[in-house]
Amino acid sequence: EKGGYATFMEKEINDQPHAVADTLLGRTDVEGRLTLDEMSISEEQLKNVDRITIVACGTAAYAGMTAKYAIEHWTRIPVEVALAHEFRYCDPIVNERTLVVSISQSGETMDTLMAVKHARELGAITVSVCNTHGSTIPRESDAVLYTHAGPEIAVASTKAFLAQITACYLLGLYLAQLRGGSFADDAAAVMKELAQVPAKIETLLGQMGRVREIAKFMADTRSVLFLGRHVGYPIAMEGALKLKELAYIHAEGFAAGELKHGPIALIEPGQPVFVIVPSPTSEHGLHGKVVSNIQEIRARGARTLVIAEEGDEAVEPFADEVIRVPATSPLLAPLLTVVPLQVFALWLSTAKGLDVDQPRNLAKSVTVE
Ligand code: F6R
Repeated sequence: EKGGYATFMEKEINDQPHAVADTLLGRTDVEGRLTLDEMSISEEQLKNVDRITIVACGTAAYAGMTAKYAIEHWTRIPVEVALAHEFRYCDPIVNERTLVVSISQSGETMDTLMAVKHARELGAITVSVCNTHGSTIPRESDAVLYTHAGPEIAVASTKAFLAQITACYLLGLYLAQLRGGSFADDAAAVMKELAQVPAKIETLLGQMGRVREIAKFMADTRSVLFLGRHVGYPIAMEGALKLKELAYIHAEGFAAGELKHGPIALIEPGQPVFVIVPSPTSEHGLHGKVVSNIQEIRARGARTLVIAEEGDEAVEPFADEVIRVPATSPLLAPLLTVVPLQVFALWLSTAKGLDVDQPRNLAKSVTVE
């Protein structure tokens, strides 16, 4: 059942190429146009959408935060990401033209379910991005877009996260296509690139030996920081969450630009910091800005564990470790950059002799508010 792996989590991390490929499967026609047949909401209604609110918790919310960058870029529809338990009680601004997208692996998270019910009462159109057929949240939504990650058994979410990002990207591209305009033409190009991602994840998984080694020697570490920018920001937070859950280590993810506004005070000699470097092809010179951040923290003694694209030489002088990921376009990078962080948490937890699949105090689905 664990496919020869010692834990479900290790298996599920290695399942990720399939999780992404299967979520992409059957969602385009012969011309490469997105079809999303299961979206039982009229095209007319979807064309009228003028704002999107994503509701989710935990890792699913980080998938939503990642998707926000892509959906806004492709559709120019404003996207807000709300933690489901906050959304429900903050008098949300929602109407018939609001598309409320819930993201949930289990489909049973009570906080998310309550948010969806509330959104429907307010007249919103609700779409569920969900991994579990026949679960409650899709039943309570107007439409569902299933992620096809397969059953996720380990408490900590890994492959569902990649599938959630993939499904939300499909939704964004579909909306862009419906609305026409300049980004509609790009949808086909993005789909082509998405189709190459599973093979890139596979390659990346084959290169994780060094990450495992680094984790093994960090069993005594008390705190780890994660920095990222743009789509790397939610990935930094996801990396921190994985480490808290699995290795019970204090971990925090920051937006790299926020460093000088406070968190840099935390840097002292020996402090391990993962930095997710944007692709050198990112807009607005973000790559150079993050490379400067690495330099700044390194000068203060941080131990820099840098996740950078293949061929990005600029990071070399300031990195204690460089973890390479295959090149892809900036918006798709999260499907790759998160993998070493999952692998790191897995092996650090293992090095500490902890129960990887069933961390203390956590349940796979949280069915109480
Ligand atoms: C993190 C994790 C949790 C879940 C969250 C939402 O590894 O597993 O943060 O992501 O509880 O669960 P679902 O997606 O089932 O609604």
